[in-house]
Amino acid sequence: MVLGYLTQCTSWLQTTLTEKAKLGLINVLAAGPIPRHVAFVMDGNRRYARRLHKQVQQGHAEGFVALRRMLEICMRLNITCVSAYAFSIENFKRSPEEVEALMTLARSKLLELCQQGDLLQEYSVRLNIVGNVSLLPPDVLEAARKAEEMTKYNNRAILNLCMPYTSRDEIAAAVRSSIDDSIDHNNASISEKDIDAHLMTSKGGSPPLDILIRTSGVKRLSDYLLWQCCEDTQIQFSDTYWPDFGLLDFIPILLDYQRKRWSL
Ligand SMILES: *[C@@H]1O[C@H](CO)[C@@H](O)[C@H](O)[C@H]1NC(C)=O
Ligand SMILES: *[C@@H]1O[C@H](CO)[C@@H](O)[C@H](O)[C@H]1NC(C)=O
Ligand SMILES: *[C@@H]1O[C@H](CO)[C@@H](O)[C@H](O)[C@H]1NC(C)=O
Repeated sequence: MVLGYLTQCTSWLQTTLTEKAKLGLINVLAAGPIPRHVAFVMDGNRRYARRLHKQVQQGHAEGFVALRRMLEICMRLNITCVSAYAFSIENFKRSPEEVEALMTLARSKLLELCQQGDLLQEYSVRLNIVGNVSLLPPDVLEAARKAEEMTKYNNRAILNLCMPYTSRDEIAAAVRSSIDDSIDHNNASISEKDIDAHLMTSKGGSPPLDILIRTSGVKRLSDYLLWQCCEDTQIQFSDTYWPDFGLLDFIPILLDYQRKRWSL
């Protein structure tokens, strides 16, 4: 009961806070230590849709709006790298209709995001598709490559859109290419550093992961950024469904990060 009431309050505040008040909050936060790299496990789109008696696709579409919102907040805070788990390799096991709908959404939104005047160009963000792209349908792969191409000279920040991704697949690929390199260079030793350098996120230039956030009250990592979660990564779970996730959910997480940085 109390939780439901609080959630209602938060979403009320979320919609009532004026843009000016939000900017003010962001500026106050930006005065403290800011994480370089924040990752989101964007969980809860389907439960959000079910709760509101909407189609699953609608939940995913609103999830994309939330990604935009969070990306803009992160850019205003000068966070230099954002990673988002858009599609797990495991998600291919969902119903063909849902997979198809997600792929259609990805194809159209990818290009939208990179258009002149849209978010990625406005904040000079380079898009980096992270994952086993050979599993994507050809038209989605083409859109992904085109979107990367459109943003490749952007240099203020990085968006790692992870699709279709799992950590195990990424680590296995990194080990394979480390072995190939070591054979090429006739060098039998493979270190942590070598594998790290071959990760898809490292190749895209991502800084170390400072905060990993999973929404919708589920406490699992679901094969996401397992190697990148290092000694200092803060893992944060939020009860909010991803489509509802916004500044007011993010602030306590950032304050927690800042408190820990200050107490070092
Ligand atoms: C963010 O970075 C830009 C350019 O690096 C700088 O001009 C601006 O003051 C920074 N903003 C904040 C809030 O730190
Ligand atoms: C991508 O997935 C395919 C099929 O599971 C696998 O054979 C291939 O090694 C994977 N590639 C990478 C780069 O992970
Ligand atoms: C072999 O690889 C290791 C780890 O990458 C490196 O430290 C070492 O310098 C390399 N040795 C040679 C002979 O290239």
